[in-house]
Amino acid sequence: MENTKVHIMQHPLIKHKISFLRDKNTGTKIFNELVSEIAMLICFEATRNLSLESVEIETPLAVTKAEVISGKKMAIIPILRAGLGMVDGIRMLVPNAKVGHIGLYRDEKTLQPVKYYCKMPQDIDQRDVFLLDPMLATGGSAAAAIQYIKDSSAKSIKLMCIIAAPEGIKKITDKYPDVEIFCGAVDSCLNEFGYIVPGLGDAGDRIFGTN
Ligand code: PRP
Ligand code: URA
Repeated sequence: MENTKVHIMQHPLIKHKISFLRDKNTGTKIFNELVSEIAMLICFEATRNLSLESVEIETPLAVTKAEVISGKKMAIIPILRAGLGMVDGIRMLVPNAKVGHIGLYRDEKTLQPVKYYCKMPQDIDQRDVFLLDPMLATGGSAAAAIQYIKDSSAKSIKLMCIIAAPEGIKKITDKYPDVEIFCGAVDSCLNEFGYIVPGLGDAGDRIFGTN
């Protein structure tokens, strides 16, 4: 079995932007802009190994060989709600990616994910899936989403998150060693309510202004 690869982002721009995301005084507008920008920067790292093919291009001066991304194709799948905040930033880089949706929420008492909506691109079996959720806490939501996507026959899955707890990373790496994780930061622990500490609070509430 392939080993899971966990990539913790080291880029100064990502670290800088995550600091402002954590700040409780950052309001909804800036928070959304930061989530989108960080998602774009993480996507830049997560797409580093896309395969290329050679094509012929005519410039105003000459015919030349050039490289373009080959074959199919990406699908991006945000976990609702908070994953939606990452979609626009990634679509700026990969405008042709198909977008699926997985609706999950964590039961407040049990912390177990409850599924309420799923819509996948029809040809997901031919696509590399980028699963989006800013928060990887216990890992229950990401694991449920990965299982659903695997059952839909996606050929590869990469999980992109902004802040992860060690518990969530362990859960995904133990259960799905083939899934690569691209993560903006890894925090200390979970508190008694399953929130990441220091974290940034409830990502969905901060993105949609519902707290
Ligand atoms: C948050 C977050 C993840 C999940 C992480 O969603 O966006 O989906 O919790 O926790 P876990 O790793 O312990 O499963 P939430 O359930 O609060 O739903 P929301 O995005 O609709 O607010
Ligand atoms: N979901 C969030 O939005 N934040 C956390 O810290 C944990 C789960």
